[in-house]
Amino acid sequence: MEKIVIEGGHRLEGTVAVSGAKNAALPILVSSLLTEGWNTFHNVPDLKDIRTIKRLLIDLGANVETSQSVVKVDAGGLNSYEAPYDLVRTMRASVLVLGPLLARLGGARVSLPGGCAIGARPINLHLNGLEELGASISLEHGYIEAQARSLKGAEIYFDVVTVTGTENIMMAAVLAEGLTTLRNAAREPEVVALAEALNRMGARITGAGTPVIKIRGVKTLKPISFTIIPDRIETGTFMVAAGVTRGNIKIVGCEPNHLGAMINKLQQTGITVEEETDGLRVVGTETISSVDVKTLPYPGFPTDMQAQFMVLMCLTNGLSVVSETIFENRFIHVSELQRMGADITVSGTTAVVRGGRRLTGAPVMATDLRASASLILAGLAAEGTTEVSRVYHIDRGYECIEKKLAQLGGHLWRTRA
Ligand code: EPZ
Repeated sequence: MEKIVIEGGHRLEGTVAVSGAKNAALPILVSSLLTEGWNTFHNVPDLKDIRTIKRLLIDLGANVETSQSVVKVDAGGLNSYEAPYDLVRTMRASVLVLGPLLARLGGARVSLPGGCAIGARPINLHLNGLEELGASISLEHGYIEAQARSLKGAEIYFDVVTVTGTENIMMAAVLAEGLTTLRNAAREPEVVALAEALNRMGARITGAGTPVIKIRGVKTLKPISFTIIPDRIETGTFMVAAGVTRGNIKIVGCEPNHLGAMINKLQQTGITVEEETDGLRVVGTETISSVDVKTLPYPGFPTDMQAQFMVLMCLTNGLSVVSETIFENRFIHVSELQRMGADITVSGTTAVVRGGRRLTGAPVMATDLRASASLILAGLAAEGTTEVSRVYHIDRGYECIEKKLAQLGGHLWRTRA
């Protein structure tokens, strides 16, 4: 097992490049199941979750070739419709194959994901949507068995905004007969990117990026060449890294249009965020102001940045209220931050962060992807040495985070635990 060791107190300076977005790459790689022939995807990050989805695609009978950040997928030889327990339990996003497999093969057998560290995370809305499109769904021996002789367009309303739910139904509906309307659809940039990829394949999707998405079914789709959008959560994590070290960094290869809520919140704390021709300049401030933050579906403040932002709030002289409205158990980083001296009180879905305490380095344990990122940020800001164990969580979603931060002058490295 590996750990990341951080010697805190070093100001970040320089330029860092953002990788492709994990949460855009996952559904887009899966969308190749809807086509026959070679798809070419550029700017695909080299992450554990991406390796898992490639393994699943190969398991299903697709050919997959990788050369640096280019991934090619040909699903012409699709010969299985099963996503096994071992892969789904490693990565819940494996359920994204449900919609495309149903559309292409008329059936899918996908292990039902259980809860995870951050919440129960049901997939009832994915299943309801597929039923509305005409699939019959049952649960047998821990597997979702979905069958559909043909899928028919339908009106689907999501009770809760769901990102992968919207993506799954969109991928099923592109080959359904007639018009599908998704209401209260997720508006995340990753949903828009998937719709763009599908449209490039020949799908007829309008409204992606708004709460109402319309999908007019087509008979077949063709393979494409497509570039994955930049990772907005990685970008946000670097922005906070500049803030907690009072640094001055430039982030290149990012998409400022996807970062509205994050930029706004950071500016309210006194941090300078400015657009330059080829990226974003982020300059920390000595006195960080406390602000309240509430996670919401896009364009609100992302839940995937809540843990990182909380570290910044630990460094103010005031009081900040952090409300988590997306996942019911996404404060697991708090007890680790408390071990580093943070003064945080959690009550239900609200955390009250009292600034003005010194953070001091400590051995801490990563519990999920974004929680791990917050511990690394806390380590950069703390006095002394922090050791973050169980770093496999961070490798799921950040490409060489310790190398990128070290390039900016952070003192951190990976070692065997
Ligand atoms: C996506 O997860 C992301 N994952 C998550 O990224 C992200 O935190 C989340 O969206 C919210 O932005 C990928 O894109 C692969 P949801 P997803 O369905 O789609 C409830 C990361 O760190 N819900 O939008 O699984 C659910 O319980 C992560 O990269 C239902 O009730 O999240 C939650 O409360 C982790 N029924 C809310 O909706 C359903 O059928 C939003 O979840 C589906 C969801």
